[in-house]
Formats: sequence, structure tokens, C-alpha cells
Amino acid sequence: MNENYFDLFYRLKAAAPTALGVEETEEERRDRIRRDILDPIVHDIERGARGAIPAAVARCYLGNFSASPKALEVVKGYAETKKEKRDEGINFIIQGNAGVGKTHLAAALTWELLVKSPRMNVDFWPIVDLVSLAKAVFEDDGQARFRLEDMGLMDFVVLDDLGQERRTDWTRELIFTLISRRYNNRRPTIVTTNLESAEIADRYGDSVASRLFGGGAVVLKFGAGAADFRMKGGA
Ligand SMILES: Nc1ncnc2c1ncn2[C@@H]1O[C@H](COP(=O)(O)OP(=O)(O)OP(=O)(O)O)[C@@H](O)[C@H]1O
Ligand SMILES: [Mg+2]
Repeated sequence: MNENYFDLFYRLKAAAPTALGVEETEEERRDRIRRDILDPIVHDIERGARGAIPAAVARCYLGNFSASPKALEVVKGYAETKKEKRDEGINFIIQGNAGVGKTHLAAALTWELLVKSPRMNVDFWPIVDLVSLAKAVFEDDGQARFRLEDMGLMDFVVLDDLGQERRTDWTRELIFTLISRRYNNRRPTIVTTNLESAEIADRYGDSVASRLFGGGAVVLKFGAGAADFRMKGGA
């Protein structure tokens, strides 16, 4: 089940190169990619054909994010300079309370990156699913080590809802290993979290906090007053 979780990204990557036209504007290209590639995938997801992929996340684009032009600007800015970000391994951290749009923006950023560079390797993981998968595979045959090595080298990895996993030495070590591998390989990680920076340091150690926030990371922090979109009935 988990392997299928963000299978749409893999399908997108596989399908997109054949869809690239030469004489179209950037806008036409985006529209076509969305129409020919993303929408059919989302349609599959909604029919339940794609395993556990949450349709709510699949439909999160910058275009349907309202209310915070500042946040949009920061995400767009990051997506536009993605090559340098990737080369320098600059992380993108989205912090804030429940329902303010962190996951939405992380998903929208993922789409932006993929639409711009369909061949890019991106992994999107709700942290609790990553932990469950890693546990299951470790208990099974130790293959998760290799998976972690892959994740250390992906162009982008999104860790959604860091801090929602159970607080154990094992999860702490897993997260440290992942973050430090990506840091050593100069690969950026996108993180969404309800945790404050000090809580991240407390929970995972200063070495994780320093690797996440250091090196000019882009931090988008929703203030305590930001609206909860779920409660507003926005979703
Ligand atoms: N500014 C916005 N414009 C449009 N939809 C939004 C906006 N912010 C949030 N939403 C929608 O509200 C719902 C909740 O947002 P989201 O899941 O991104 O919250 P979150 O900050 O990740 O919350 P949590 O900490 O509980 O994971 C989603 O369906 C999302 O698409
Ligand atoms: Mg979320």
C-alpha cells in the first residue's frame, strides 16, 4: 500500500517527458501537463484506483491556495530557483498550527517542481507513513537501509507533519539518519510541522535542528493567528 502512496509522482515523471512540446508557452505547457497528466491521475485516485493516495493532497496546487499571497510568493520563489536550491541543498520548512495550509503548500510546491522538471526525483512522505514503512521493512529483511540511502539522494524529499510520529529513540534515529544523509549529499528537504524550532531541537537534537535550519533554509512560518482552513469550512 505504501509503495503506491505517491505513485502518482512516479507516473507523472514517467509520463511527462513525452508530453513536452517545443512551441508552447510556459502557461500552455502547464495547462497541458495538468490536463493530460495530473487530472487523469487525480481521477484515478478519486476512483480509489491508486491505493491510499489522499485526494485532498493530490488536488493541492498553488492556484487553489487562497488567503496568503505572502506564502504563495515564498513558495513560488523557492520553486523558481529550484536548481540552485537543489545544488546547494537549501531546505524549505513550513511551520504553523493545524489546518493553516502547510501540507497544501508542500504538495503545491511538489507539483510546481515536477511540472518544471518532470524528471526530477521527488518523494512525498507523511512522516507517520514513512515510519510505518521503515519499521515494516526493517522487521522484514533490513531493506529499509537501502531505501534510506535512496532517500538521501532524491532531488527533493517532502516530510509532511514532522513531529506526528511516535516519540521513540528509533524514530529519532531514523529522522536523524535521513536528515543528515540529505545534508551530507547537499539535497534539500521540505518539512511541514506543528513544532516550533526549539521543539525540533529538543525532540531530535541540536544536530538535526542545525542541519534543517542552517545553510540559509527558507522558513515559512504561519503565525498563531493564521486561520484554520478546516474549521472555516474551507476544505
Ligand atoms: N489558503 C488556503 N487556500 C485554500 N485551501 C486551503 C488553504 N489553507 C488550507 N487549505 C485547505 O485546508 C485543508 C487543511 O490544510 P492543510 O492540510 O494544508 O493544513 P496543515 O497546515 O497541513 O494542517 P495539519 O497541521 O493539521 O497537518 C486542506 O484541505 C487544504 O487544501
Ligand atoms: Mg498537514
